[in-house]
Amino acid sequence: MDLVIRNATLADGRTGIDIAIEGGRIAAVEARIGVAAAREIDAGGDLVTPPFVDAHFHMDATLSYGLPRVNASGTLLEGISLWSELKPELTQQALVERAMQYCDWAVARGLLAIRTHVDVCDDRLLAVEALLDVRRRVAPWIDLQLVAFPQDGLLRSPRAFDNLKRAIAMGVDVVGGIPHFERTMDEGAESVRLLCEFAAEQGLRVDMHCDENDDPLSRHIETLAYHAHRLGLQGRVAGSHLTSMHSMDNYYVSKLLPLIREAGVAAIANPLINITLQGRHDSYPKRRGMTRVPELIAAGVDVAFGHDCVMDPWYGMGSGDMLEVAHMGLHVAQMTSQRDMHQCFLAVTETPAKILGLEGYGIALGCNADLVVLDAGSPAEAIRLRAARRYVIRRGEVVAESPPAHARLALAGRPSAVNFRLGR
Ligand code: FE2
Repeated sequence: MDLVIRNATLADGRTGIDIAIEGGRIAAVEARIGVAAAREIDAGGDLVTPPFVDAHFHMDATLSYGLPRVNASGTLLEGISLWSELKPELTQQALVERAMQYCDWAVARGLLAIRTHVDVCDDRLLAVEALLDVRRRVAPWIDLQLVAFPQDGLLRSPRAFDNLKRAIAMGVDVVGGIPHFERTMDEGAESVRLLCEFAAEQGLRVDMHCDENDDPLSRHIETLAYHAHRLGLQGRVAGSHLTSMHSMDNYYVSKLLPLIREAGVAAIANPLINITLQGRHDSYPKRRGMTRVPELIAAGVDVAFGHDCVMDPWYGMGSGDMLEVAHMGLHVAQMTSQRDMHQCFLAVTETPAKILGLEGYGIALGCNADLVVLDAGSPAEAIRLRAARRYVIRRGEVVAESPPAHARLALAGRPSAVNFRLGR
């Protein structure tokens, strides 16, 4: 064997598990594997998980915070106009450099698969070219999936649909959209129809920014579910954000949830961004704005948490830590039961892996040997501590290591200084 990880706890609760790796794949998962290996890692009872997966990100905008200025109102709409100011100034080299820097952060955090939207409302398609280059460069470490995203509106921006088709022809993976940003509700619905039909023709997945507002009558998710069902796209469509569902009438939602489920449409909430961008027009009480995560899960819908933004025109925080994302999601959705906390962990691991259609993901015989050893004993503890990634393993190779979080106390009146593992 190339590598054996000893004494792991798995997210499903199994303990004392050894994981053997050969040729970049998992060769055995069982208690006390009695084979020798070129390298052994003692997990010491800590949690070993498949890597974190971010189902929703904007890698073309990341790490551009403050360029050309900071978002003063903190709103989504000012962020979009700020991005439009920045777009003509972008260079491919700067885009690639920022994205590569973010990918380094991601690897260190055990984030080894990312679905990123890439703006196609720039006739030069500079960002598309840059992120296709980045996808190729980071392929040994990160599965990067690109979504052709018409940021300024498919119908509202004159050449957006042509640009989106060009981007797909260049190798972009997924069809994006932004129906709530079109000029009217009708044009929003029309954009959903056009994009779903195009995706069905091309055999592609769909992931739309959908109803990212506080308007209870923003119901493009209904149209998205309708076309996903009509075109047989079940299991291939995701609605990102869906924040208007937070404000919708409960009776309407009771009809909507089964429609989403029936259409096999997944939901992607972005807790850090939803809690900061939504409710900006409210005084008090102020809405949280995140979509109805526990209700969607209870209805049988796959729900992932995405990071969405890190240091960009919309958000000046973040560092590529999906445990921080899960932590915020857990709080905003009040998912505090043991079962719900576990669901929040799945929302940044297994569920987005399913939404992205990742192959070979998981800890089972034959899966890719992509693993993270966390400084935590359980998924809930990993979220509570935003636990250090002791080892990040890609195809059987250790690609990042971080020390466990330790502190040394020197308190007057206490007999001796103590070293201890923070929070454990
Ligand atoms: Fe987004």
